[in-house]
Amino acid sequence: MKVLVTGVAGQLGHDVMNELAVRGYEGIGSDIGETYSGIQDGSKVTTMPYIKMDITDNASVREVLTDIAPDVVVHCAAWTAVDIAEEDDMRDIVHSVNVKGTRFIAEMCYELDCKMVYISTDYVFDGKGIEPWSPDCKDYHPLSVYGSTKLEGELAVSELLEKYFIVRTAWVFGKNGKNFIKTMLEVAKTHNRLTIVNDQIGTPTYTFDLSRLLVDMVETDKYGYYHATNEGGYISWYDFAKEIFRQAVENGHLEYMEDKVSIIPVTTQEYGISKAIRPFNSRLDKSKLKEFGFAPLPTWKDALSRYLKEIEF
Ligand SMILES: NC(=O)c1ccc[n+]([C@@H]2O[C@H](COP(=O)([O-])OP(=O)(O)OC[C@H]3O[C@@H](n4cnc5c(N)ncnc54)[C@H](OP(=O)(O)O)[C@@H]3O)[C@@H](O)[C@H]2O)c1
Repeated sequence: MKVLVTGVAGQLGHDVMNELAVRGYEGIGSDIGETYSGIQDGSKVTTMPYIKMDITDNASVREVLTDIAPDVVVHCAAWTAVDIAEEDDMRDIVHSVNVKGTRFIAEMCYELDCKMVYISTDYVFDGKGIEPWSPDCKDYHPLSVYGSTKLEGELAVSELLEKYFIVRTAWVFGKNGKNFIKTMLEVAKTHNRLTIVNDQIGTPTYTFDLSRLLVDMVETDKYGYYHATNEGGYISWYDFAKEIFRQAVENGHLEYMEDKVSIIPVTTQEYGISKAIRPFNSRLDKSKLKEFGFAPLPTWKDALSRYLKEIEF
């Protein structure tokens, strides 16, 4: 199986490439840079084939996909800076990356008759209520530019293709990039009091674990919409921060002990304005994974524990 992965300089693409290597599949990575620009961690992705492809450039997408003729495209590239996406002068570029770029890739997958995986987000929903969102729920009401462009990307894929997997995930963390865990560990070095919201509820997702599921999926023809995060229940960002520091201390990082860093739960309103409106209810219902015979991801606490051993802080 020949698999083209977009966004390999980001969190998820990096781990998808390594998972392909573990299983002996031919992985070709791409991103916007001339050469692979992710972390040099000695993993397979750093030496696997790489090709520059700006997904907003249709000619480039056509040329690369025609040359490679992949069996599968795992499309991880996206505009993911949620707050910057709200700035008036950024909307066109966000739309180009998340909508046009996705459509260009989907059009080529149609022409080449190959499978496409599109990674999407809980932000396609409005986050109202407390019920988990089902993957086949069509009650979309994105609250942000990021959410609405990711939704348009989804629709482009599902309208054009039959052989697609649209996998919505949330609260992503991986070795190769910025995320909430790294931010917490960094900010706590210079602040002894952190306020963290406790009314946005979801579940974290380790890209290492999600990558395994994505490769499991492309080995099948069980196409459609899925939700995938780690298991272990629904939590708030405050709960997540508490566990990050608890495990960091357990690993010997005594600088994160409660008497040195206090974590204060606050509501989103108390926390203050952020540019993008974030959903309160990011509970994703993942039961469809089991129904279709896919192994669920490990718990988020287990994922966090493995992650903290992988990164330096
Ligand atoms: N991060 C989350 O919490 C989260 C939550 C739910 C869903 N998702 C989705 O999961 C997927 C993977 O997320 P991630 O966290 O791995 O993202 P990421 O770390 O931001 O990686 C995305 C990659 O895409 C690249 N890219 C941006 N514009 C491009 C273009 N025009 N052509 C080619 N590549 C381009 C980025 O390059 P630059 O860095 O140079 O821009 C970056 O290397 C995305 O589809 C995202 O929407 C993420």
